Amino acid sequence: MNENKPISMANLTRHADLIVIGAGLAGLTVALEAANERKVIILAKRQLTEAATAWAQGGIVGVLDQKDSFDSHVIDTLEAGAGLVLESAARFITENSSQAIQWLLDQGVSFTLDPQGPLGLHLTKEGGHSHRRIAHAADATGKAIHDALLIKAKNHPNIEILEHWIALDLITNKHLDAPLTLSSKKQIKNDYCYGIYALDIQSGAVVALTATDVVLATGGVGKVYKYTTNPETATGDGIAMAWRAGCRVGNMEFIQFHPTCLYHPQGGSFLITEALRGEGGQLKLPDGTRFMANHDERMELAPRDIVARAIDFELKKHGLDFVLLDATHLGEEFIHEHFPTIYAKCLSLGIDMTKEAIPVVPAAHYTCGGIVTTLEGRTDLKGLYAVGEATCTGLHGANRLASNSLLECVVIGKATAKAILKDLSRDIPPIKIWDDSKVENADEQVVISHNWDELRALMWNYVGIVRTNRRLERALHRIELLSQEVHDYYANFKVTRDLIELRNLLVCAELIVRSALARKESRGLHYSRDYPDTFAVSYPTILEPAQLNRKIGT
Ligand code: FAD
Ligand code: SIN
Repeated sequence: MNENKPISMANLTRHADLIVIGAGLAGLTVALEAANERKVIILAKRQLTEAATAWAQGGIVGVLDQKDSFDSHVIDTLEAGAGLVLESAARFITENSSQAIQWLLDQGVSFTLDPQGPLGLHLTKEGGHSHRRIAHAADATGKAIHDALLIKAKNHPNIEILEHWIALDLITNKHLDAPLTLSSKKQIKNDYCYGIYALDIQSGAVVALTATDVVLATGGVGKVYKYTTNPETATGDGIAMAWRAGCRVGNMEFIQFHPTCLYHPQGGSFLITEALRGEGGQLKLPDGTRFMANHDERMELAPRDIVARAIDFELKKHGLDFVLLDATHLGEEFIHEHFPTIYAKCLSLGIDMTKEAIPVVPAAHYTCGGIVTTLEGRTDLKGLYAVGEATCTGLHGANRLASNSLLECVVIGKATAKAILKDLSRDIPPIKIWDDSKVENADEQVVISHNWDELRALMWNYVGIVRTNRRLERALHRIELLSQEVHDYYANFKVTRDLIELRNLLVCAELIVRSALARKESRGLHYSRDYPDTFAVSYPTILEPAQLNRKIGT
């Protein structure tokens, strides 16, 4: 690999107190909370608006109503999480929810108002919640949050944003310029994170960015599936980087499929928010028959795993391409007021949702597992923190409750910044500079694009909503072959964003499949035809780099 060829070139290094990889809600929260006392660099690998945060629709949980309670939210989270939620995580997050919403209001987020509502906010409802507790900005909550925080970050004197920079690996002890002496080995007993190697996509230079603390806030890995609600950024980079650096990764088999992604050839990855079902939207077969009663007494408001599996079942049973989500009975005025973005998007494709039902299918939506962290974002590597969808804090267990993700980003983001501010600044030893003088420009991009497509198709077909051992084994075999091919390619050609992302997708795909194979039961989002039963007692799936025979992703 490129890093085997160190040379020293001072102009290819930079330093900050804190490097935050990712400009979604998780990264921006940490950066804004730390920036009054630290110089911060934020990286975003595409334009800033390309992040799951900016695409969030339904809203963010706020336990604000007097009739609601922390216990009720904890119980709903535990129930959705199907026995694997860490109760202390759920309690910590719920108890900090009203502070989180207040913090967002202080940053200038314009939520939908209701003069009678708590904090003057309108609260909506989503599947699995036993109260109205979702604060929202119509049906474009993520954009309202992201826009407000980006303005704050761009105007902060201690924050520099590097757009179109992609982190490709963490800098750890193995990247030090001089081998450790015995005495320095004693000082540096544990492995540390000293920074990152990052590609400036416009100039093509790979720079070593060093820092006292690094935060991975890189989002999830929805792009590993052919059909997803996620933006292009969701390639699991943070999870793969942390894994390669020796961190544990947990619960990767639990990929959440959102039940209702718009089905239209020109629709792209467009979500139809769960809040539409929360407000009364009904799922129907193309002949108009409702079917959710055959699957769960909570009907359209059952937790997502149940609704997605029910749709998958009906699609297969009737040989359909899509089912329908009917909101016509909600009335034009209500739809215009509460779902203006969805209305406009559907209308642009010739679907008037006030008069006709919307065609929908399930699609990969959320990565419940990720880098194992504490509730202060600490990982297994000193100096390395992780926050947001890239992580596994224990909050989501085997299935995330709707609108808990944005809340987790803010609550854990704030706690992480607090922890980082306690870290003392440390000297960074000399680091190997990235040397790509002996590798060539890639001759053919087709190898990368072909392998991307193959990987995403095989994950959809073999590692989707319903799994079997045989399909998982087949997927693993293909992934191992693709990984070898990409490994060779990576060693011989200059890095590009597509190559970096494909390498990371393959690591995450293997982690998902190995975690799925390790679970000999069905639970939450992981449903296996070979093991349809649910054990009375179960545990998270934690993979440790040191314990696997074949090293994934080296
Ligand atoms: P993101 O917001 O995805 O940000 C990731 C950032 O990391 C981006 O800036 C990206 O450029 C950067 N990045 C990634 N890799 C690299 C790299 N190698 N180098 C440099 N930069 C990198 N959750 C809710 O709670 N409520 C909702 O209503 C809701 N609706 C949703 C609707 C949609 C369509 C989707 C896709 C998700 C929704 N979610 C919702 C989930 C929620 O939006 C995400 O889980 C959350 O926003 C993740 O935030 P994040 O900061 O962890 O990651
Ligand atoms: C949605 O609006 O349906 C998405 C909510 C979520 O993913 O939490």
